[in-house]
Amino acid sequence: MIGIIGGSGIYNIEGAQVIKEINISTPFGEPSSPVVIMNIEGKEVAFLSRHGKEHIYPPHLVPYRANLWAFREIGVSRVLSLFAVGGINRKLKPGDYVVVSDFIDLTKNRERTFYEGVRSVKVQGEDKPAQLLRAGKVVHIDVSLAYCPEMRQALCSVLESLNLPFHSYGVYACTEGPRFETPAEIKAIEKLGGDVVGMTGYPEVVLARELAMCYASLCVVANPAAGIADYRLTSEEVIREMRRKEEELKTIIKRFVPRLPHERHCDCKKVLESAEV
Ligand code: HPA
Repeated sequence: MIGIIGGSGIYNIEGAQVIKEINISTPFGEPSSPVVIMNIEGKEVAFLSRHGKEHIYPPHLVPYRANLWAFREIGVSRVLSLFAVGGINRKLKPGDYVVVSDFIDLTKNRERTFYEGVRSVKVQGEDKPAQLLRAGKVVHIDVSLAYCPEMRQALCSVLESLNLPFHSYGVYACTEGPRFETPAEIKAIEKLGGDVVGMTGYPEVVLARELAMCYASLCVVANPAAGIADYRLTSEEVIREMRRKEEELKTIIKRFVPRLPHERHCDCKKVLESAEV
């Protein structure tokens, strides 16, 4: 099943046919919202709101592990994550889409792995992640291709078919937040190779991968990053831009879901092979 995580301004998929809403508790705590199972173009899709339905979790307190574990519990194998971001690369304009291809982690204090060796949470289940956790293994996963190539390809072809402004590559820099960045920080991130900046893309991508899920991230450039435009950044501007994109995002999702082949042809599912010490 495909799981969708909605970011700021995207708290549900308006108009999609809801099948049921499930409250899931996990060994990693409560997810940020109930998981809503929807029917999109004849396929069951799970939706979760990253910040909660009422936007109650700031970026550094989002229960990332619980969210991904809840998806695992209901059989999600591919995650499409939606984000509002600030644009750093001068080619990016507000309203553009970016299909993320790599990330830079600039966060400071987040629970960033399921695999804590001897301190791992002992979970139930027979899949590889559950076995590794019960055995207290130390696991180093490869993130050379953190974002699923098959999902990225599908996203790009949907965006192209809809004639929407998009960039098929982009490096996502994740800052700790919850404050926005300083102009000096944005200059530094630009030098490091960051194209867009957000506060919630990490560790989500890594946690999905640690569960051998495919993961892709579709970003909407909501604003020029700090110091790039000569005006003050506000949350209001970010939410407004995302609301403006709501219909478009729904159309993208409707085309994206049936476009993915049933079988996963990428290597994401093999990421736990030979990853343990
Ligand atoms: N910085 C960090 N996170 C963001 C931004 C930004 O400029 N815009 C939307 N989310």
